[in-house]
Amino acid sequence: MQQLQLTLAIIKPHAVKNPVALSFIRNVLKQNFIVVKTKRVTLDQNAASVFYKEHVGKFFYNRLTTFMTSGSIDLHVLAHMNAIQLWRKILGPTSVYKGQFQEPYCLRGMFGLSDTRNVAHGSDSPDSAEREIKFFFPEFSVYQWRKEDEEWYR
Ligand code: TYD
Ligand code: MG
Repeated sequence: MQQLQLTLAIIKPHAVKNPVALSFIRNVLKQNFIVVKTKRVTLDQNAASVFYKEHVGKFFYNRLTTFMTSGSIDLHVLAHMNAIQLWRKILGPTSVYKGQFQEPYCLRGMFGLSDTRNVAHGSDSPDSAEREIKFFFPEFSVYQWRKEDEEWYR
């Protein structure tokens, strides 16, 4: 059975700075998901290193955290049936080069500049979605949201 699921999308600094990319991405979000929460933040090195702790030691770690702290990022909590998989499918492969050749209409294929500047982040499992949403929206309660959501549709 399909379940309503939450995921975290992060629009990366180069895409936030590109008005064409940003308005395109926002339309894609609105058309495909319920956008539950949104906020614009700038990460400091400490926050970036906590958020990306699974990548410590990898060859791209410094490049990734330097880039992610280089400007504002947009955070979106998205809801949909299988939201995690759906958002990652819309984003396309991590490698922008692969995206451009294999799935040219994925967001990374369209707006990605490099493997690091690959447009956006998407949680990769229910556990990481929960951890990542808590990290950026500690006050957010999924139970409260579902209650308000159900009341709204009643
Ligand atoms: P990863 O979690 O493997 O990819 P995804 O974002 O698709 O879940 O990597 C996290 C980020 O690290 C990725 O979005 C961009 C950066 N990265 C690089 O800069 N170079 C690389 O070769 C890889 C694998 C990732
Ligand atoms: Mg990942």
